[in-house]
Amino acid sequence: MQFETLAIHDGQAPDPHSGSVTVPVYQTSTFERDDLDHRPEFFYSRIGNPTRKALESTIALLENGLYGLAFASGVAATLAALQVVKPGDHIVASNDIYGGSYRIFEQLLRPLAIATSYAATEDTGSYEACLTPETKLIWLETPSNPLLQISDIRTLARIAKERGILLAVDNTFLSSYFQRPLELGADIVVHSTTKYLGGHSDVIGGAVVTSDPALHTTIKNYQAAAGAIPAPWDCWLILRGLKTLKIRMKEHEANALHLASFLEKHPAVERVLYPGLPSHPQHELAKQQMSGFGGMVTFALKGGLPAVERLVARIKLFVLADSLGGVESLIASPAKMTLGALSKEERARRKCTDNLVRLSVGLENAADLETDLLNALAE
Ligand SMILES: Cc1ncc(COP(=O)(O)O)c(C=O)c1O
Repeated sequence: MQFETLAIHDGQAPDPHSGSVTVPVYQTSTFERDDLDHRPEFFYSRIGNPTRKALESTIALLENGLYGLAFASGVAATLAALQVVKPGDHIVASNDIYGGSYRIFEQLLRPLAIATSYAATEDTGSYEACLTPETKLIWLETPSNPLLQISDIRTLARIAKERGILLAVDNTFLSSYFQRPLELGADIVVHSTTKYLGGHSDVIGGAVVTSDPALHTTIKNYQAAAGAIPAPWDCWLILRGLKTLKIRMKEHEANALHLASFLEKHPAVERVLYPGLPSHPQHELAKQQMSGFGGMVTFALKGGLPAVERLVARIKLFVLADSLGGVESLIASPAKMTLGALSKEERARRKCTDNLVRLSVGLENAADLETDLLNALAE
């Protein structure tokens, strides 16, 4: 079955008790047992809940993986996936990753004697140069945040396998519709379901998918023990979002390509970073490992931070807000907002300059969005 059919049917059959076509919100903390000797599939909602199970099954199917686990947030899912490393192990991560993931590596894992080295996101050789005998995991975020650089998942998966290292990919920016890292050789996929999978900016959530039973058991045990699980209602909202993922992603992409092409010709713009543009340095690699280019566009303004401040003050349709992947278009300054908590030196190391603007392109009319940018960028 094809992606959009799986998104609507598999993992979410009509409710066997009532016939309800949508999976009910099982808003319960606990479940009745028949007797003392048998533990039913569901007995306590931290360990398992039918609404969460439907979400976990559907996300696994869409990633073409065997096992899915849902979490209370993307960072909870990230920390859960990182349970596959132990004190003394070493991680190699992309340089240009979500600030919250960087915080987990530096503030939560490093004090536990799990060190992370950072490789140039787009340079496979740079990952190889960072490997040590202790390296247990390579962590990618591709396209990266905010520079939209591409890591070569297939080649890095081969290098990792040869050395007995695991490969995890944060697939939030493209969603399972445009990129399926397990098919390219990755071992673990992580999502902030807050973004495209939920798709409506109304819920926080995360997910981990793998096809390896041992990895799944480790992460599932952590889920039960640490307890960062999503509420049934939040699972239901994300399930609803998944049903329209394909059509939303296609529209996000069409609008993003339209605006990226417009911005590339605008005199106030220094450069545009969008993997769908032939000018993107890794456009060919993007075409090989992604089936679409996504809805995120980053660009640099010629006038530095004052030009960014002027743009966000004048823009009308784009909402100045953190996050991404919802139906409405958002605008952000990576230096002041998403990576604002990092030191100036750390931002410089990540080539996050003050003149960058990040757009999460929504589902509005493309010409309306273009007009909004045109007016806000006018002299
Ligand atoms: C790529 C990426 N991964 C993970 C996260 C963390 O997700 P959450 O905010 O749902 O915890 C984010 C949040 O912005 C993100 O952009």
